[in-house]
Amino acid sequence: MSSDITGTPAWKNLQDHYAAISGKHIRDLFESDPARGTELTGTAADLYVDYSKHRIDRETVRLLIDLARAAGVEERRDAMFSGAHINTSEDRAVLHTALRLPSDATLTVDGQDAVADVHEVLTRMGSFTDDVRSGKWVGVTGKRIATVVNIGIGGSDLGPVMVYQALRHYADAGISARFVSNVDPADLVAKLAGLDPETTLFIIASKTFSTLETLTNATAARRWLLAQLGDGVDQKDAVAKHFVAVSTNADRVAKFGIDTANMFGFWDWVGGRYSVDSAIGLSVMATIGKERFGEFLAGMHAIDQHFATTPLEQNVPAILGLLGVWYSNFFGAESRAVLPYSNDLARFAAYLQQLTMESNGKSVQADGTPVTTSTGEIFWGEPGTNGQHAFYQLLHQGTRLIPADFIGFADPTDDLPTIDGTGSMHDILMSNLFAQTKVLAFGKTAEEIAAEGTAADVVPHKVMPGNRPTTTILAPKLTPSVVGQLIALYEHEVFVEGTIWGIDPFDQWGVELGKQQALALGPVLTDAEAPAQQSDSSTDALVRWYRTERGR
Ligand code: F6P
Repeated sequence: MSSDITGTPAWKNLQDHYAAISGKHIRDLFESDPARGTELTGTAADLYVDYSKHRIDRETVRLLIDLARAAGVEERRDAMFSGAHINTSEDRAVLHTALRLPSDATLTVDGQDAVADVHEVLTRMGSFTDDVRSGKWVGVTGKRIATVVNIGIGGSDLGPVMVYQALRHYADAGISARFVSNVDPADLVAKLAGLDPETTLFIIASKTFSTLETLTNATAARRWLLAQLGDGVDQKDAVAKHFVAVSTNADRVAKFGIDTANMFGFWDWVGGRYSVDSAIGLSVMATIGKERFGEFLAGMHAIDQHFATTPLEQNVPAILGLLGVWYSNFFGAESRAVLPYSNDLARFAAYLQQLTMESNGKSVQADGTPVTTSTGEIFWGEPGTNGQHAFYQLLHQGTRLIPADFIGFADPTDDLPTIDGTGSMHDILMSNLFAQTKVLAFGKTAEEIAAEGTAADVVPHKVMPGNRPTTTILAPKLTPSVVGQLIALYEHEVFVEGTIWGIDPFDQWGVELGKQQALALGPVLTDAEAPAQQSDSSTDALVRWYRTERGR
């Protein structure tokens, strides 16, 4: 069904409203509605979300919710949860939410009992990781596993990396994890440095098991393992004891030489960037254990339930997704900063980049017609306070409008005393979070600065314009459940935005051509006989330069 959301009355109402409200300062909005600081907020599971420091009033929220209804967000959400094929370009169901259903739930997908399938794999993952963690599963020379190396890329890497780092305090079995993704050999070489092959387990994670980077790294890792172990071990046994796979493609796993008894599956209704809660999370489960992994899934499920059942007026992921639309399409904002005040979430922005940009970076609607408005926010960020000493200057005084999400926790994962030994470093971290959102919203006027005795010619440089929108997301602690909640929160925001824009957030055709061209150019780079004249004049010249430098 072709649609133009910008032609609906709901969109027009928002345009009119934008004209009326966009000139107002957040300061004025707070002055005219002092209760907004407590009322333009929401809770979802353990998350407390303050969206009062936005360039909105209560009418904006009402009109954005009208827009969501006009776009059919609720119907499409229900269709997703029920297993309808809403990934239309690939004719697939979209059921990452089924991965975190409790075992007593019921859901049939295309005639299959999805809950039974999911829990069968979870049980296998649990008993495998129990064996690895307890030392029952040993390497080919009888030693227990000390390091798991996950080899995968994109969704088969970013989720596990981010969650492993976020939950490093929960790694309680003496097993650490490393992650290899890039086809740049520097990645594998650096990650193998110092590893003992006898105590290393490789997890080859690839939904398709055809991704060039992953298969290249996996082959190199197998070569490394066998060379390091030497002739004294049986090669087949060595691979069987040191390699397992996570994939939807059993044939390719077997062809690579991994026994499919040591393969953990998932389904085509799980998109790569939505798969950390599938068997793709095996490396995380190996380090934190199946119980903690279960808590991670339960956290996601809690947000799923909130999203599925809460009226849009109180539906936190829906409201945050709608605010993304508000800034992208009405204010013309290009990007959103994600600023966790938690060093353990250092990879969260990188994780969100794939989740959000591979999902919503589309120019055609689900029916193939061009989109009618801009899509796909650019996500980026770094943990606070590091960002404050790098790019926050632009956030505060630059010419661009960059909405930002601030994420913080009450209980620290680590804490240390302050300089005088009486305070908590975590309190310093959190006071920075609160100060930044305050300054971004309210700023400081020329009059206030002049009143402090600042020289007149310096005053304009010191003016803090404020009126910079932020969302603050707080949780009691960075637990497995809360990490799951944060992931699911953003998954559903992406869904709401994609639905408003009329696109299919669950395919990623835009990454295919580059893969094909790289395969085609490979031989041109390496084979001196291959004609260097292959392509456009720029690419040809670059290839010639490269061949000359490499002596080919
Ligand atoms: O980059 C495209 C992509 O298909 C991602 O969507 C996916 O997460 C990644 O490649 C890895 O794919 P696979 O898990 O099949 O190796």
